[in-house]
Amino acid sequence: MTERRAVGVSRVLIEERVLQERIREIAAQLDRAYGDDVPLMVGVLTGAVAFMTDLMRAMTIPVHIDFMAVSSYGASTKSSGVVRILKDLNEEISGRRIIVVEDIVDSGLTLQYLLDVLGRRNPLDLRVVALLQKEKADAIPVQVDHVGFTIPDEFVVGYGLDYAGAYRNLPFVAILDPAAAGIG
Ligand code: IMP
Repeated sequence: MTERRAVGVSRVLIEERVLQERIREIAAQLDRAYGDDVPLMVGVLTGAVAFMTDLMRAMTIPVHIDFMAVSSYGASTKSSGVVRILKDLNEEISGRRIIVVEDIVDSGLTLQYLLDVLGRRNPLDLRVVALLQKEKADAIPVQVDHVGFTIPDEFVVGYGLDYAGAYRNLPFVAILDPAAAGIG
């Protein structure tokens, strides 16, 4: 972290090497799960971009990719409780095998909404991969088939995750220090 400008980050939670190792494990599980089928990976913009691009390249089976954007927290660290589609898929998903790739499951609201929307389009099956899931007693119980890491209920940034648009290009996951980030 010393050679990077990461003002507002209080400590590294998951180092780059550890992230990449775990991604290779999940990629191997996905390779085995689909065999000769070609799944469509659906990345949830914008936070899942880093994870999705590393995950798909760690996989050895052919995949197709598409992206969907849903409303997120904006410049806040709390969910508004309302989810809506900002960008829909380009691809039809009926009859196809879908892998939803999420950055983080917090309240579970976003994923619940996405699974509902995608499920109505009659995919052959839907699998969910989330890089991070917060330990939260009051989270909505929602389908997550592969979790990279379970983390404490703190606001994290890096590796695709942002606070007000910043920190996405950090190659590690770190805990945001609200005071140093100017929000405490
Ligand atoms: P949920 O709907 O509460 O599960 O939140 C899911 C979305 O909120 C994620 O896809 C992220 O975009 C965002 N989010 C939740 N927690 C964090 C965090 O700690 N850091 C950055 N973004 C987060």
